[in-house]
Amino acid sequence: MMSRKYNVVVTRQLPEAGQILLQDASDIEFVQWTEDRPCDRDWLLQHAKGASGILLMLTEKVNEELINAAGPQLKVIASFSVGTDHVDRSILKSHNIRLGYTPTALTDACADLAVMLTLMSQRRGGESLRKVLDGQWPQMPWSPLLLAGPPIRGATVGFLGFGRIAQATLKRLLPFGIARALYLTSRPRERAREHYIGLLDGSGIPVEPAQDWREVARESDVVIVGCALTPQTKHLVGPEFLATMKKRAVLVNIARGPIVDTDALVKALEEEQIFGAGLDVVENEPNIPADHALLKQERCILVPHIGSANTETREQMATESVRNLLAGLRGENMVNEVVL
Ligand code: DGY
Repeated sequence: MMSRKYNVVVTRQLPEAGQILLQDASDIEFVQWTEDRPCDRDWLLQHAKGASGILLMLTEKVNEELINAAGPQLKVIASFSVGTDHVDRSILKSHNIRLGYTPTALTDACADLAVMLTLMSQRRGGESLRKVLDGQWPQMPWSPLLLAGPPIRGATVGFLGFGRIAQATLKRLLPFGIARALYLTSRPRERAREHYIGLLDGSGIPVEPAQDWREVARESDVVIVGCALTPQTKHLVGPEFLATMKKRAVLVNIARGPIVDTDALVKALEEEQIFGAGLDVVENEPNIPADHALLKQERCILVPHIGSANTETREQMATESVRNLLAGLRGENMVNEVVL
């Protein structure tokens, strides 16, 4: 006798490999949002009713409303992301719902982008490109200090958060000849030292836990934001942080927009408190109108949350999310599960 199938909701079309895995799973029946934009909330709430699993993106909030709409049979949320700040973990825990995510698939892609944004912001990539596209090049022939910026060689690189992506970024920056790295994590300093010691043996440069954010801001030529968004990290990079940074330093954010206070960043750029910024994420994304004050800052390069956007990575995220979903339904081990 054929046992009953699990009802599943999938909030986006997946890259092909994930889509095939989903279609081949004989124990599920799924409904899927078909448009290439975040699904309507009403659609999600309506289709979640009676679902045992939901595969969703970072654009969908997982909160009490969704869990209640689904009902008590809901077993698993599989998020197509490394970040889980869109998920209310305590609600999942109290309802015994498992949470899968894709932290290992996108490390390299995000670290690549961190390096790109570091170099772009130091070497004024956005500003240079804008001048060429605006037809200004004929008025600004080559000159010794045209669009010159600070070097990566000899830089102290400070990391806010020192997880997989930050460490992979550091490894990529070593061959550029950086002089020193500092990192700040939620672990106390000595525990952080014990935890990370050995990880970068042979790097040939000092890699040290910082006392506090002030040390990261004060000492770094490049600050890379790679921590999770939590109530403690919201606006961690605010007016005080930016005022403590060196005038020749750049800020790179590859984590979540609200960790950086946008108004404070605009002011710091306007007043030349820092040299520049490279952002993959920003508060209130994607609702950044063309006349936003941040976009008027020549020394700020902003890209639209493309950290993990290489095709192989997105394929892998898709297959891992489907595997997590199926494992959650079947009571098996996930590829990556958040301990709630
Ligand atoms: C994630 O998966 O959380 C990233 O922000 C996507 O690039």
